[in-house]
Amino acid sequence: MEFFIDTGMVDEIKKAAEWGIVDGVTTNPSLIAKSGRTQVEVIKEICEIIDGPISAEVIATDKDGMLKEAYEIAKWHDNVVIKLPLTEAGIAACATLSKDGIKTNVTLCFSSNQALLAAKAGATYISPFLGRLDDIGHNGMQLIEEIRMVYDNYGFTTKILAASIRHALHLRDCTLVGADVATMPYKVIEALYKHPLTEKGLSTFLADHAKANS
Ligand code: E4P
Repeated sequence: MEFFIDTGMVDEIKKAAEWGIVDGVTTNPSLIAKSGRTQVEVIKEICEIIDGPISAEVIATDKDGMLKEAYEIAKWHDNVVIKLPLTEAGIAACATLSKDGIKTNVTLCFSSNQALLAAKAGATYISPFLGRLDDIGHNGMQLIEEIRMVYDNYGFTTKILAASIRHALHLRDCTLVGADVATMPYKVIEALYKHPLTEKGLSTFLADHAKANS
């Protein structure tokens, strides 16, 4: 499974990059706004830190506007992936970009039919939003399972990029249902390391070592 970090904060990306387990980065307009910087600045800097797919989202809502932005963003770096919303215009833009060999990440996916449309349009990634479905009392993980089944039934190669991951249990369940990629905020990746028995075991080992060598 590939791990992406979901943030527009370059310092978080630098820290996570040191762990050697981050394969790519996703951003969205809200995350970029939180950074207080422009998208072009942030994305170009991220591309210097992580050598992997870096998603940058378009703002336009019509197909021509999306394509105009996408072709501009695609010039920033070879690793940039164009993030498009799952709307009629987004799917149409995705089909055009796919034909042009430009990588895409279709975002804001909340149903397996939407994921099917993205795959038919040649999307590189589909981003189902787990946490936001859970927030309204739906089962986000069930959506990932359904998309996995649909893509496997028909041999689609679009990668399932589990998004809106809020905690470590989401990640654990994503691995069990076969998501290809998980994009997680810094604090969730950090939480994956933590286990009370690891901490307890290590302090016992260190105390025993200190006693034996005193
Ligand atoms: C994914 O690409 C999105 O940026 C992100 O995962 C959304 O997460 P949220 O629902 O926690 O805002």
